[in-house]
Amino acid sequence: MAQRGDIGIDLGTSNVVVYMRGNGVVFREPSIVAVEQESNHILAFGNEAYRMVGRAPSNISIIRPLAQGEMIDFDLTSSMLRYYLSTIIGKHFFSRPRAIMSVPSGVKEMEKKALITSLFDAGLRRTQILDRNIAAALGAQLNFMGTYGSMVADLSAGGTDIAVLCNSTVTVFNSLHIGGDHFDDAIIRYLRKKYNLLIGERTSEQVKITLGGAMRRNPKVEMDVTGRNLISGLPKTIAVDSDEIYEALNDYVDDLIEGVQAVIEKTPPQLASDIFEGGVTLTGGAASLYGLAEAISGVLRIPCRVAPDARDCVVLGCAKVMMDPSGMRHLLSAV
Ligand SMILES: Nc1ncnc2c1ncn2[C@@H]1O[C@H](COP(=O)(O)OP(=O)(O)O)[C@@H](O)[C@H]1O
Ligand SMILES: [Mg+2]
Repeated sequence: MAQRGDIGIDLGTSNVVVYMRGNGVVFREPSIVAVEQESNHILAFGNEAYRMVGRAPSNISIIRPLAQGEMIDFDLTSSMLRYYLSTIIGKHFFSRPRAIMSVPSGVKEMEKKALITSLFDAGLRRTQILDRNIAAALGAQLNFMGTYGSMVADLSAGGTDIAVLCNSTVTVFNSLHIGGDHFDDAIIRYLRKKYNLLIGERTSEQVKITLGGAMRRNPKVEMDVTGRNLISGLPKTIAVDSDEIYEALNDYVDDLIEGVQAVIEKTPPQLASDIFEGGVTLTGGAASLYGLAEAISGVLRIPCRVAPDARDCVVLGCAKVMMDPSGMRHLLSAV
C-alpha cells in the first residue's frame, strides 16, 4: 500500500521534479550546483545556483552533475538530491517515505545502487528505480501492457531516449546525444559564426524557446539578442529571426528524426505496423520545440504528438507506480 507522503522523483539532466502522494508535483528545481573551486565547498543548489549561470565570479563553478545524460559527479548528484529531499521531507513527513525514481539512461547500475543507499541515509525508507522509457510512457498515458506496440521519445536537456514498448517492457531502445542542451549550443555556435556575437547559455535557451523550431515559423518571429562582440569585446545587440534559428537547429533536428527512424527500422514488423498506426509520442521539456512533432510526422509519415504535460511525464509515470505498488511492481527495474 502506498502511503501519504510517498514520492515519485524525476532526476533529470536539467531538472529535478518531485511528486508527492496527496499533493501532486511539489518540487521542481534545476539540477545545478554552485561550487567554490578552491575549497570545493558547495555554495548553492537549484534555482539559487541557476541565477549564477553566466554571472558567477571566476572562483565559482556552476556544475550540472548529470550533464549529457550521465552521472558526471556522483557526490554532487547525491548531495543535491539529499538537500532537495531534506527540504521536502522536513516540511511534510514524520514517517520515512518510499520513493519511485527515474534517472537518466546513462547512469550506471553501480551508481543507481549507491544513490539508493545515500537516499536511505537521507531519510527515504526505500527507493526503487523505474526505467525512464517506462516512466515516460506511463506518464503519457500510453498503454503498453498488452501486445500492442507503443513508441515514446523522451527529449531531455542532455539527450533523447527513444523506445518501443509492449507487454509491459521495452522492446527496442536507442539513446541519442541530442537534447535541449545541444540545441542551445548550436544557437551559440551559429550566432558566434554569423555575427561574432558570443551569448551565454541562458540567453541561448531563451532564443531557442522564442525563435527556435523544427519548422520555419510563419510569420517569421524576431527578437533582439544581446551578447558580447568578439572583435570589439563590447556588448552588442542584434535582431535575430526565427528562420536563422531554424537553420541553426536544422542538422540536429534531422539527426533526431533519423534516430527515431532507426528505432522503427529495428522494430519487429508486427510491432512496426502498430507504430505506423499509433505513431510516436514525445515527452520531456525539449519536446516543446516548435514544430517538432509536425516535422517528425512529415518526414517519417507516421502520426506524432507531444504528450499533454510533456515535461512532467517522467515524474507522473513514477507517481503512477508509486500509487499502485502491487499492480505495477512488474514494471520496476531490479536494482
Ligand atoms: N518551449 C520549449 N521549447 C524548446 N525547448 C524547451 C522548451 N521548454 C523547455 N525546453 C527545454 O527542455 C529541456 C529541459 O527538459 P526537461 O525534461 O525538464 O529536462 P531533463 O529531463 O533533462 O531534466 C531544456 O533543454 C529546455 O531548454
Ligand atoms: Mg525530462
